[in-house]
Amino acid sequence: MSCKNLKMICFSPTRTTRRILDAIAEGVGAEQTEVIDVTRADRVPEVCDCAADDLVIIGAPVYSGRIPLTAVERFKALRSCGSPAVPVVVYGNRAYEDALIELSDIAAEAGFKTVAGAAFIGEHSFSTEKTPIAVSRPDEDDLDKACEFGKSLASKLADGAFDDSAFEVPGNRPYKDRSPGMSASPVSSDDCQLCGACERVCPTAAIVTGASVETDPDKCIFCCACVKVCAFEARKLEVPRLLEVSQWLVDNFSERREPEVFI
Ligand SMILES: Cc1cc2nc3c(=O)[nH]c(=O)nc-3n(C[C@H](O)[C@H](O)[C@H](O)COP(=O)(O)O)c2cc1C
Repeated sequence: MSCKNLKMICFSPTRTTRRILDAIAEGVGAEQTEVIDVTRADRVPEVCDCAADDLVIIGAPVYSGRIPLTAVERFKALRSCGSPAVPVVVYGNRAYEDALIELSDIAAEAGFKTVAGAAFIGEHSFSTEKTPIAVSRPDEDDLDKACEFGKSLASKLADGAFDDSAFEVPGNRPYKDRSPGMSASPVSSDDCQLCGACERVCPTAAIVTGASVETDPDKCIFCCACVKVCAFEARKLEVPRLLEVSQWLVDNFSERREPEVFI
């Protein structure tokens, strides 16, 4: 089986997962590549059918060692009868724990067959100038590794070497518990120009821009897309518990981690 059609399905609020998937796709070099980006609620297809000979790469960030619930919900649109799938998770240099096996199980549930997997590193969503965590990842080296991984996928497909046994990726079942939810969100300061950029990138439609920026704290998933997109540095995550977490990450997880591929 060679790779004619590549489908990439991703949830990626701050775009690190998306950049890794793009680099993998470049390495695969399929005749046709279709991107189904489910980061925004209004872009989620009702059903996304994948043909048996599509190669499907499914990408999501790691939130507390798991796949974010919003992504789990949106991946429910996926359907297949046996297409080869490659789960890819991107994490902020701490750990990916049970996220990769969870994504592989989501794929299996939708009828896919996991044939490979990978965990890459992206700048942590909570990273700021004061608490820098995995800044500017993925970098050139990461993207080269992602592209190489894509090339290996293409040659394995061409050899038919994926056709044999079921493939296992690291992680535990049952998965670790999700972190308890919190009703809070980033806030906009007086520097806000009401440009609406934060509203446009919010994956859960938690932000409404009018005469001021209003954020629904019950919808916010702390992805920090709104903080990172703000050209005026007016949006900040000043939730005390998360500021503590950021400092803990800096103190304990600053040593560079490298991507892991399973093929
Ligand atoms: C709520 C939340 C929880 C996170 N939990 C983890 C984690 O358990 N381990 C880790 O290394 N990074 C964690 N991160 C960081 C993200 O996995 C990382 O920044 C990733 O690159 C974001 O992907 P995206 O750019 O596609 O949104 C977390 C981020 C958020 C917002």
